Amino acid sequence: MTSLNITFPSILHGGDYNPEQWPEDVWDDDVKLMLQANVNVATLPVFGWVALQPNEETFTFDWLDRIVEKLTAAGIQICFATATASVPAWIDRKYPDVLRVDNTGRRMKHGNRHTFCPTSPNFQRLSQALVKNLVDRYASNPAIVVWHIGNEYATTCYCELCSMAFREWLKVRYGTLAEVNARWNTAFWGHTYTEWAEIEAPSHIAERSIQALLIDYDRFQSQALLNLYIAERDIIRKASSTIPITTNLMGPCKPTDYHRWAKEMDIISWDSYPPRGAKPDEIAFNHSLMRGLKQGQPWMLMEQTPSQQNWQQYNALKRPGVMRLWSYQALAHGADAIMYFQWRRSRGCCEKFHGAVVEHAGRTDARVFQEVATLGRELRALGTSTLNGVVQSEAAILFDWENWWAIEYSSGPTVDLKYVPQVQRIYAALHNLGVTADVVSPSADLSKYKVVVAPVLYMVKEGVAENIEQYVSGGGTFVTTYFSGIADATDLVYLGGYPGPLRQLLGIWVEETDVLSPNESNAVVFSDSSLCASSTSKVGMLCDRIHSEGAEVAAVYAEDFYAGEPAITVNNYGGGHAWYLGTQLDDVGLLRFMKELIDTAGIVPWLGTAQMRGIETTVRTNPQGDSLRYILNHNTERMSFSLPDGNYRELITGETVSGNVTIPKHGVMILQDLK
Ligand code: GLA
Ligand code: ZN
Repeated sequence: MTSLNITFPSILHGGDYNPEQWPEDVWDDDVKLMLQANVNVATLPVFGWVALQPNEETFTFDWLDRIVEKLTAAGIQICFATATASVPAWIDRKYPDVLRVDNTGRRMKHGNRHTFCPTSPNFQRLSQALVKNLVDRYASNPAIVVWHIGNEYATTCYCELCSMAFREWLKVRYGTLAEVNARWNTAFWGHTYTEWAEIEAPSHIAERSIQALLIDYDRFQSQALLNLYIAERDIIRKASSTIPITTNLMGPCKPTDYHRWAKEMDIISWDSYPPRGAKPDEIAFNHSLMRGLKQGQPWMLMEQTPSQQNWQQYNALKRPGVMRLWSYQALAHGADAIMYFQWRRSRGCCEKFHGAVVEHAGRTDARVFQEVATLGRELRALGTSTLNGVVQSEAAILFDWENWWAIEYSSGPTVDLKYVPQVQRIYAALHNLGVTADVVSPSADLSKYKVVVAPVLYMVKEGVAENIEQYVSGGGTFVTTYFSGIADATDLVYLGGYPGPLRQLLGIWVEETDVLSPNESNAVVFSDSSLCASSTSKVGMLCDRIHSEGAEVAAVYAEDFYAGEPAITVNNYGGGHAWYLGTQLDDVGLLRFMKELIDTAGIVPWLGTAQMRGIETTVRTNPQGDSLRYILNHNTERMSFSLPDGNYRELITGETVSGNVTIPKHGVMILQDLK
């Protein structure tokens, strides 16, 4: 676990710069334009490997020396990338084991990027040699503000080297083959392994019926990629002890267990590319998930497009003001860096129509350039006031990558059960109620939260039930749902009744689960004394048949052979309450339930915006103790509301505000209490 104390000198503003794609006579123009765009950091050379090493014996750093010198002279900081994401063609030709094997068992050919096998000794040797050379040459440069390892790690390889490394990983994890057989339940369908060599990478033409194997392979591949990161990090760390090291993550990215990754990273950074029409809560969910990887610490928005993308089906322009709004949204959720992909739009190849700060016309009077320059000016004026602020939140949602894999490998109960949308629904309900939720690991410290929700906590790993029990005993309110408490870390079902290790906490036994197709529904009726007193809600997808073993029945089913049986329960446990939603409430019902829940738990959104659609608020408390209140208007019309009593300084304009205020469409306010 790393523990660097990270404070940037100011909000970082800049992004990916690929000078090797351009003739050198463009570079002076780049530096001049960066200053005009109020950019203070450039990320390079992310894809510069072949330009730095045209063959195994030759390193060519002179061009990088020259551009680093130009940037440094202009006072532009460097986010120094290790250039290992795109493997040179000569390496792939000379060492074919560097190329990974896909899930159909085919070895990739050279091309594209991220094509390396994580266990290839040749890839490890060559990439680490490059990093060592870069570090020897540049680590002492005071312009380096952060190190950027690789790029968007997320691939999976099924090659023979990976199969071999997987067996070694299993030996460390389980000791004996007998233990593997037991934990994977391989007696099923006669799949017992009699020798280690029989275990193979589960490509799509190999073993796919042992879910525990698939989950372990995902763990192993995530770790194998992480080992690449760790090896590069350790080389850098030897020469650069105080500069933070990161790699750019991708939000809810399935193959990489970011809770493990975060422990090896000094600062979280991630690439946010909301699709056209993305809702504010969807973007906020991703920020909260990334923030939750290192609770209480700032993070970097490493990439966003200043305008449009090229890889979606319909790559709409970000409307005027939206890039600014979404940048402040990142700030509101804990970012200390706002960065773009990319600085200058490529002339050829697949990203020539991807948005960039400098577009093909190369003009500074272009809308996008102007919006970037204006934002840069604003961020500079904020100085250090927002830096290192901790986002305040009284609610948490539990998220776990291994649980995600396990749920979606499960054959049954329904194809409609997808983990991320389940978590997003809960997040959206809280967001729409004006509540900022953290999204954290099930083993995180939960003590500061008033409400904790664990949607579909199917896999309950060692220590997790105890962590939640401790939280509820201490007075917390906990909610979990259908298909929770089912299996352990190797996907062995807990015997003795669902929801296994959560049964005592919840005071219930789930006997069986009915499955409804998308065009079927049931309803639940809340009892008079419950949160949502005597209301009825439509429900669907899964309907657990629940027996109370001490829990109060808050709602019963209205229809079918289990009409009148418990559907939603609450158990008093220690000083707190543990809720169980045995079926999926529709959006209206879920919102109503969550509203009553946060009211009862004493969570009060500070702007009281519960009913004000499209206004998002967060509070970030900086190390000086100022609680900065962010207000973001995601609507395409202006909005008026009244502020809680008091006078505030609005930090972007410097004006004093109080009482009734109007915020323009896509507008942003950052309020500081005037004492
Ligand atoms: C990713 C990559 C970048 C770039 C962008 C385009 O985030 O890290 O190199 O390709 O996508 O959106
Ligand atoms: Zn491999």
